[in-house]
Amino acid sequence: MGRKVTKAIFPVAGLGTRFLPTTKSIPKEMLSLVDKPLIQYAIDEARAAGIKEFIFVTSRGKGSLEDYFDHAHELESSLKKAGKEELLEILRATNMESGAIAYIRQHKALGLGHAVWCARRLLSDDEPFAVVLTDDVIQGEPPCLQQMIEAYGETGGSMVATMEVAADKASSYGVLDVAEDMGAIVRAKGMVEKPKAGTQPSNLAVIGRYILAPTVMKNLNKLKQGAGGEIQLTDAIAEEIQAGRDVFGLRFRGQRFDCGSKAGFLQATVAFGLERDELKDEFADYLHQVMAMRRAAE
Ligand code: G1P
Repeated sequence: MGRKVTKAIFPVAGLGTRFLPTTKSIPKEMLSLVDKPLIQYAIDEARAAGIKEFIFVTSRGKGSLEDYFDHAHELESSLKKAGKEELLEILRATNMESGAIAYIRQHKALGLGHAVWCARRLLSDDEPFAVVLTDDVIQGEPPCLQQMIEAYGETGGSMVATMEVAADKASSYGVLDVAEDMGAIVRAKGMVEKPKAGTQPSNLAVIGRYILAPTVMKNLNKLKQGAGGEIQLTDAIAEEIQAGRDVFGLRFRGQRFDCGSKAGFLQATVAFGLERDELKDEFADYLHQVMAMRRAAE
């Protein structure tokens, strides 16, 4: 069995241009899904999976993301005085232990693989690590990263989260070439980043959760350019297979939302809104009304 995974890298340097003008001054990871910023969903999922150290790869303009994890002492003491225990609990759930988060700057936007590589000095040479992409929000029980840690405990090697996508969407993803399909877990014999339409080796797309062997970081040292001229994480993982090491995909149980796109963000808002006890009745009524009105107008 492999070493325990206690560190996760969160690449959060992206510009978020799809959410302009909001992202002129707000990092996209701070966009609120119901009432929590995207980054909080990612952190909560990682904590549930046993991650203890959180490495954020940031860039210019991400200051509010860093501030978000400071303890809000003034706010906490005024809530305490006012006896607002419920709100205090919400705040406390966001507090991180001092020293648990490290921030590294990616000085140039050279791709996801490069962003991950920027964190290399914060990992030891023989340490597997997780990567969590905050754009991919996943509703699942147990949370997706925990499912992966459990599966990785059985397989070792490297593991990516995967799900089936429509053939005409495959070119937006990393795609697995499947050697052996064992049901929930597949063994990969290759991985291609953003295959040209019609050339994808399967319809199993990589979703933004990874447990990676330390050798993947070494592969990134080569800083080889791939699809779109970027240094691709997918290529560094594919290199593992070429070197004869295991790479698996886990068909996770749960629903994934692409919160890097507007439509995906809206879908996530509906799904997470309907999960909330205090919102679901009013919100569901509203959605029914809207749909009825649309149907009547057709
Ligand atoms: C990244 C990865 C890709 C993966 C996708 C999942 O692409 O490079 O392999 O399938 O995340 O969301 P991006 O969405 O950043 O273009």
